[in-house]
Amino acid sequence: MPNDPFINMTPIYSKITGLGFYVPDNIVMNDDLKQYMDTSDSWIQDRTGIKQRRYFTFGKDTNASMGAAASRNALDRAGVAPANVDLIVYATITPDYYFPGSAFLMQRELGLEGIAVIDVRQQCSGFVYALSIADQFIKGGMYKTVLVVGSEIQSSLLNKSTEGRNVAVIFGDGAGAAVVQATTDPEHRILSTHLHADGRHAEDLMVKDPGSSRDGRWLTEATLAAGDYNVSMNGNAVFKHAVVRFMEVINEALDANGYTANDLDLLVPHQANIRISEYVRQQMNLPAEKVFNNIQKYGNTTAASIPIALTEAHEEGHIQPGNLICLAAFGSGFTWASALIRW
Ligand code: ACO
Repeated sequence: MPNDPFINMTPIYSKITGLGFYVPDNIVMNDDLKQYMDTSDSWIQDRTGIKQRRYFTFGKDTNASMGAAASRNALDRAGVAPANVDLIVYATITPDYYFPGSAFLMQRELGLEGIAVIDVRQQCSGFVYALSIADQFIKGGMYKTVLVVGSEIQSSLLNKSTEGRNVAVIFGDGAGAAVVQATTDPEHRILSTHLHADGRHAEDLMVKDPGSSRDGRWLTEATLAAGDYNVSMNGNAVFKHAVVRFMEVINEALDANGYTANDLDLLVPHQANIRISEYVRQQMNLPAEKVFNNIQKYGNTTAASIPIALTEAHEEGHIQPGNLICLAAFGSGFTWASALIRW
């Protein structure tokens, strides 16, 4: 059947054609945190690898404005005019409003009224989930150019007292973005994405309030007094599950494409904690230069961490055409996800 459209159809894939990031100007060193809590630079560096992070400036930065700055950067580098974007997929757990999501606000800021937007809340795996959504919409033929964004303002959610120090020292603010476009090139493209979740661990890393299923209003004096609007984390459980799931989902991506860890040119993990990345690196027998880390400079920026790290890795020349790149994430939910890319 020579005229069968299914036989003659050229497969469509997706590829990343531009990367960008934005971090606020305000650099907060470990020692700066001593004004809020009893802590030390050595405690934070030993446990997490973090030396400094950025905090947003009220009146200057918003979650959406940071996403827009990262997006403009990515669009410039891709040589794509904002008007050519078909869809925005926006990952954040710290939206400017409870609803609507920050995707709407960033769309407005970029002047893209009318195009579809999707808000994704998959915590630290948010960017990889968003990238997978972009990949599916492009491969399915519905859209050609998708803006994938991760942006977080976490500094205003943290309990920066001694009581909250085990969590507060870890997180920072920032945004990253990728332009994802259709391609018929079978070589240089997103090879596959792999998404997972396990809600049995929902309470091990969470912000509980405000929530809808409450006795009475969702935000009351009693809710405020309970303090459950702060991030709470079972650090041991997160560590234990993260190291297992990171390795599983990286190997899943490699297996699905007929590769082994030896074939990888660069692993860009979610910047959770240097100890988690190091443990995974050692278990997978990867040399230090094949795992990119920049948590030292930005802390853990949740959904923004992978696009910020990917952009910096690219800017610093660690990613070259033809390289095999793996993105891997683990986060609250629990969620875990990976993407394998032939650059
Ligand atoms: N500065 C100084 N002392 C501190 C601090 C701090 N910032 N935080 C906690 N401490 C103290 C505690 O009070 C405690 O003191 P005590 O022994 O006198 O009671 C001691 O240090 C140990 O406290 P823990 O809470 O048990 O801290 P731990 O050693 O487990 O380290 C950490 C905390 C680093 C978060 C650890 O649990 C960990 O590595 N968890 C892995 C999960 C993780 O990294 N999560 C962040 C990312 S989440 C994600 O992206 C998926």
